[in-house]
Amino acid sequence: MDDALPADASTALIELRQVRKTYGLGTAVATEVLHGIDLQVAQGEFVALIGPSGSGKSTLLNVIGLLEAMTSGEYLLRGQPVGSLGDAELTRRRGDTLGFVFQFHHLLPAFTALENVLMPELIRRGRIDAADRERGLALLAKVGLAEAAHKRPTQLSGGMQQRVAIARALSHGCPLVLADEPTGNLDTRSADEVFALMRQMNRDEGTAFLIVTHDPRLAARCDRVIELVDGQVKRG
Ligand SMILES: Nc1ncnc2c1ncn2[C@@H]1O[C@H](COP(=O)(O)OP(=O)(O)O)[C@@H](O)[C@H]1O
Ligand SMILES: [Mg+2]
Repeated sequence: MDDALPADASTALIELRQVRKTYGLGTAVATEVLHGIDLQVAQGEFVALIGPSGSGKSTLLNVIGLLEAMTSGEYLLRGQPVGSLGDAELTRRRGDTLGFVFQFHHLLPAFTALENVLMPELIRRGRIDAADRERGLALLAKVGLAEAAHKRPTQLSGGMQQRVAIARALSHGCPLVLADEPTGNLDTRSADEVFALMRQMNRDEGTAFLIVTHDPRLAARCDRVIELVDGQVKRG
């Protein structure tokens, strides 16, 4: 079975069933921080994940992003269980399916904006070609940064860096972008711009977004809001 092919439209992009996560398993300080999460995100959905600090939002995003292993439960990514996969296969699925945007942009300082945007594809395929460069430049143009393609991150403002990170998350055409407080570090105006851009990419490219935000104004502009309280879904 080739999971690089898009799943059938009726399959949820991600589906979690009774997912639990304990940190420090087997130690005296073992703490369960996700207590049986059930959630789904459909293809092309634009979803906010809200909740108090410490409620488990980043942990949940990291589990969904295959960056942290869940302790128990079931996680289907495009209809396929990921619970028992090894590291190489997890890395492959992450590369094929997921893009990431973090609060602090995590752009590589030694590389230009364009090179940063091309990085996921370079890592995934081990090479990039002219078509990749063209798509990278087109994405940068789309996020309003055509002029900045050959600039390094330190030459760009925080909002511009975050727009590069969004272009990077979309560069390999993945169906889902996970964003952990992508506007948390920005002033209101840049936050609005970055948010509007994600919404536009969602419409234009059909990319689903799951966005952790503290900002109720931004959450209200999503298709759906999932609220996490004390490691449990309270609404969503
Ligand atoms: N690597 C870790 N080891 C142990 N505890 C952790 C770790 N990461 C997060 N936690 C704990 O898990 C809980 C949820 O944290 P987190 O997912 O970061 O919440 P949020 O993103 O909603 O603020 C917190 O109590 C936090 O201290
Ligand atoms: Mg967090």
